[in-house]
Amino acid sequence: MAAQAAEPELRAIVLGSAAGGGFPQWNCNCRNCAGYRAGRPGLEARSQSSLAVSANGTDWALLNASPDLRQQLAATPALHPPDDAARGSPIKAVLLTNGDIDHVAGLLTLREGQPLRLLATAEIHAILAANPIFTALAPGLVLRETVKPGETVELVPGLRATLFPVPGKVPLYLEDGSVETDLIGEQTVGVEIASTKGKRLHYIPGCARMTEDLAVRLEGCGAILFDGTLWTNDEMIAEGLGQKTGRRMGHMPMSGPDGAIAALARINAGRKIFVHINNTNPVLDARGPERAEAESAGWEIGHDGMEIML
Ligand code: MLT
Ligand code: MN
Ligand code: ZN
Repeated sequence: MAAQAAEPELRAIVLGSAAGGGFPQWNCNCRNCAGYRAGRPGLEARSQSSLAVSANGTDWALLNASPDLRQQLAATPALHPPDDAARGSPIKAVLLTNGDIDHVAGLLTLREGQPLRLLATAEIHAILAANPIFTALAPGLVLRETVKPGETVELVPGLRATLFPVPGKVPLYLEDGSVETDLIGEQTVGVEIASTKGKRLHYIPGCARMTEDLAVRLEGCGAILFDGTLWTNDEMIAEGLGQKTGRRMGHMPMSGPDGAIAALARINAGRKIFVHINNTNPVLDARGPERAEAESAGWEIGHDGMEIML
């Protein structure tokens, strides 16, 4: 008889692996978006950034709720309503890592009178509280819980979450004139998910800069899912798609001496996976040299439906 594999203690499903706009983006004719529409091989569509996590396979939490959530749930049987009730959902909690549109717009998909816990820092909750559209999540049913950076909370049975600050900025729609692009505070956080027996996964879809604190925190964990927005800092400018660098948008690039691949090279982790990948990023092309470079440095390129078992 074959030996039985140990049950995973922590399961994660990448619901969406793209940055804001998704891939292809509705109004974009960059090399990747145009190539995808033309059927160029090596390119796979991706929806906007979100991760689902569970310990027992029955109770799930979402890390961020993307504008593509409805289609992501439809594509993920583990998140369908259980058989034994007229209404219900395995999704028991949603945790937000910032107030960006690609991370909060999907909350509106979760209306319909379903009890949920909604966890975020005080600053991120304040952004939601300032916008009455989110009262569509009925206050008596959707419980808004404030989590302080550094605090550990039970997210779903068997999984604890700890939020920690990462360099970032306020959401684009709240920028007013001068913007600090690598603030360390409550507006952009990463999250550590830990199982009862100590398996650890880190989800950091936005990070402007690597810090020593962050490096210490990440060392030795089972999986890191990290900001893979751009390959080079000026990629969008070079393609004629705008004036902003990645760093101005609060995202460090993958490549180069200050990029994520170099910054995380010395960190030991079971798996290193890029998520929140912008449609302009040449790493999306499975046949391109950038993909080969990232993979040979030990990185995986996240894709929708990717599963991580620890
Ligand atoms: C980002 O990750 O920088 C934001 O999602 C940008 C946006 O809101 O489109
Ligand atoms: Mn984003
Ligand atoms: Zn594009």
